Amino acid sequence: MKKTLNVALPKGRLGEKAYAILERAGFGCPSILENSRKLIFENPETGVRAFWVKPSDVAIYVERGAADVGVVGKDILLEYEPEVYELADLGIGKCRMAVAAPKDFRDDTRRTLRVATKFANIARRHYAAVGRDIDVIHLNGSIELAPILGLSDVIVDIVETGTTLRENDLEVVETVLPISARLIANKASFQFKTAAIGALVRGVAETREEIL
Ligand code: PRP
Repeated sequence: MKKTLNVALPKGRLGEKAYAILERAGFGCPSILENSRKLIFENPETGVRAFWVKPSDVAIYVERGAADVGVVGKDILLEYEPEVYELADLGIGKCRMAVAAPKDFRDDTRRTLRVATKFANIARRHYAAVGRDIDVIHLNGSIELAPILGLSDVIVDIVETGTTLRENDLEVVETVLPISARLIANKASFQFKTAAIGALVRGVAETREEIL
């Protein structure tokens, strides 16, 4: 009998794109596209059991083995450094981590820079590398508000289209990292479900070639 492969997908548009790649790679579970409040779906033919979780929770499910594999942004992997294997770059969910500030911002290096962000570790590493003293202000959303209200000097956040920055009179000061979605695996599952996970990685690589 086929071993079941538990797949954690990020809820939302990225998850739907990721699911399309998995399906084309031969790991479909069509009931997941049903418009319902159900969270978990199974396809006995492919052996896939897939479920939607909050994007920032995918790595937790995979790290602890509740999911064998999952799809997660590189931003989450760099921020939380979960103990998982990173198997492939899916080439979707492309954006960048950037420092942004009000248009008239000039960095006064004699003062500690106040940085608002959801990504405290990424921000700390970025500024430590250039020896800049910072004060991290950890927020959970609407980061762009912080410099507008004088809560911070700059933000470290994800920029995709740039619309949020533009509409709030902010601009990119520098790019920290390029980001995209990654296929990750639980370390024990990778040993025990080698055949399925190997086939998934090969299928995803072929599908990527076709799509990109
Ligand atoms: C993300 C990010 C920016 C926005 C960037 O926010 O934090 O605010 O998207 O996208 P853009 O460059 O295409 O405008 P998200 O929608 O995840 O919400 P939150 O961070 O405010 O929770």
